[in-house]
Amino acid sequence: MNPSNIVIAIDGTSASGKSTNARLVAQALGYIYVDTGAMYRTLAWHCLRHKIDVHDGTAVWNLCRQWKTTLACIEHKVLLLVNGYYPETEIRTATVSAAVSHVAAVPKVRNWMKLKQRECLKFGDLVMEGRDIGTNVFPETEFKFYLDASLDERAKRRAAEGIKENLAARDQRDSQRATAPLMIPLGAMVINNSAMTPAQTSGMILERIKKQLKSN
Ligand code: DC
Repeated sequence: MNPSNIVIAIDGTSASGKSTNARLVAQALGYIYVDTGAMYRTLAWHCLRHKIDVHDGTAVWNLCRQWKTTLACIEHKVLLLVNGYYPETEIRTATVSAAVSHVAAVPKVRNWMKLKQRECLKFGDLVMEGRDIGTNVFPETEFKFYLDASLDERAKRRAAEGIKENLAARDQRDSQRATAPLMIPLGAMVINNSAMTPAQTSGMILERIKKQLKSN
């Protein structure tokens, strides 16, 4: 693990453009992209397959602690593999979306995820997106961003992807859980991109990173 590697933390609400912009920023800088939401989604999918009640934190943790996974870095993207498999399409279903914030509220699960997410540093400089990257996973990073957009605009973006889900309910669960809730990290640059394109949002993020890197 190289402690001198850089971490760009991008947190924010659901459908606020974290994935799109984190990918664009990673591409522009040649850094590795990490989607931590995909890790929680993979655990939710694993629970559903094993008929575990996602509201039962003890049962979720018991499954998680015995879980055999590997972290792989493929084409500049970190993947959490289950028996060598990445369930790319399976983790995007409405069922998994409805289950995931329950799984993500279990404190021991969050601690397990944090260790995995910090382990990603071994792959190189990272652009990591999630809900608690700047507050909990890498609080020491000086590169923190928080994205948001109006609920209306975020629902439109999901609908354009053919996904209908209750974003407000998920945001509420993510913001109100006891452990590492979604919140604006101290010192983060906050971007409300309701009326912005991804090129504008990622451009703003890149400008800030470059300024910070120059002043170091
Ligand atoms: O970004 P996403 O919608 O794929 O994330 C799925 C869920 O995972 C989200 O509702 C909250 C949870 N999550 C989290 O609690 N912490 C993270 N760092 C990333 C995601």
